[in-house]
Parts: sequence; structure tokens; C-alpha cells
Amino acid sequence: MKNQTNLLVINGSARSSRSLSRMLTQRFLDSWHSAGLTGEITQRDVGKNPPPFISEEWIASAFTPEAERSEQDHRVLEYSDQAIAELSQADVIVIATPMYNYGLPAAVKAWFDQVIRVGKTFSFDLARGDTPLEPILSGKRLVTLSASGEFGFDPGGVRASMNHLHPHIQTMSKYLGVSQSWNVSIEYQEFGDERFEKSKHEAIEKIEPVVRELTRSFVQA
Ligand SMILES: Cc1cc2nc3c(=O)[nH]c(=O)nc-3n(C[C@H](O)[C@H](O)[C@H](O)COP(=O)(O)O)c2cc1C
Repeated sequence: MKNQTNLLVINGSARSSRSLSRMLTQRFLDSWHSAGLTGEITQRDVGKNPPPFISEEWIASAFTPEAERSEQDHRVLEYSDQAIAELSQADVIVIATPMYNYGLPAAVKAWFDQVIRVGKTFSFDLARGDTPLEPILSGKRLVTLSASGEFGFDPGGVRASMNHLHPHIQTMSKYLGVSQSWNVSIEYQEFGDERFEKSKHEAIEKIEPVVRELTRSFVQA
């Protein structure tokens, strides 16, 4: 059993005290500690401290070969370097995020833009033909904890085609080096009725089994 398991937690909600996704993060951390998992826990709160957006300067610096980078290039890439270091040392990544306008909050997307970087988290080689991008990192587990005001976003649900949150995270997670992932979602927040209470209860109940499965996945690895 791999008991030195490093965890990286990304919180994306702009809300603090009333946030459902942050509540799920806390439940996840409680289960994590109860499971006896040790290792470093790094929290990157992009909801409270949004990453900088990608700029023309950032792109130029990222595509400048490392040996040729100026001090200014290093400054521009400082956030990205730090966020990638946190990602690289993580075995498990938790992304706790609201659904905003049927997709990712801008702050969470900004984090992905900072960490998915050429030469760092993916390589690009036209010798691979039509699929030139390859992830550099591997073997990570991803748990997405989400909250939405409406409902029916799961496959087969009434709003499945409007869910641009989970499919987008799933697609990008390849470049985080993710090999296995789990989703835990609370829906119906805007209704505040018994369906919301049921959804919240079911999501909370799902967390401990997810942590158990996660732990087992490391044993089998
Ligand atoms: C700016 C904004 C946009 C939102 N867009 C959606 C949406 O497109 N679909 C939806 O179901 N809920 C939407 N909601 C509701 C949130 O997903 C819901 O309040 C959720 O609980 C927020 O996560 P949190 O509790 O962790 O802050 C939106 C809320 C805000 C503040």
C-alpha cells in the first residue's frame, strides 16, 4: 500500500462560507484523514485568488526555450512554474468547482491554462502525425467535486447536452496525467427543496467510497 500519497486540492468557488463544493472538499479531507493517508496536502484556492490570465507575454515566454529565457520570462511564468510543481508532486488531484454558465468558472479555467504548458505537462511533436500532443505526467487520480443550481447534467439527464463542465475537465485531465477519475456532484441548489437535500445527502455519502476506491487503486497500481 502506497501510504505517502500527495494530494492537491483546487477550490474554485467564489463563495466561501455557503459554498457546497467547498463543503464537499471538507468532507473529502475528513475521509482522507480517516483513511490514514499520509503525504503532503497542497491547497490552491483559485476561487479566492484567481490565477492570472494567459497573456501575449506568457505565450512568448512559454515558447522560449528554457536556456534562453530572460529574467522577465521567468517572472511571467512564475505562477505557472509554481502551479505545475504542485501538480507534478500530486498523486491525487481534487477539483472542487461550481458550474458557472454551464461550464468552468473562469478562475478554474485560468488554472488549467497555467498548468497545461508545452514542454512541462505536454510534449508536441509533428512526427506523431495528426496527434502531436502527448502528456508528460502520468498515473494521477482526479476527483471532481461539483455543485450546480439546476439538475439533470449526468449522462442521460434532461440537461446532459448543456453540461460543459465535466466533459471539459475530462478532456483536459489527460494533460494533467490523469489515468482514473471520479465525479461527485450536488444538483438542485437553486430549488432548495427536498430534491436538493437528497442530492446533497447522496453526494456526501459517495465521498467515503470514492476515497476507499482511490486507496485501493494505489494498491493495485
Ligand atoms: C455566476 C454564476 C453562474 C451560475 N451558472 C449556473 C449554470 O449555468 N447552471 C447551473 O445549474 N447553476 C449555475 N449557477 C449556480 C451554481 O452552480 C450553484 O449556486 C452552486 O452551488 C455554486 O457552487 P458553490 O456552492 O460551491 O459556490 C451559477 C451560479 C453563479 C454565481
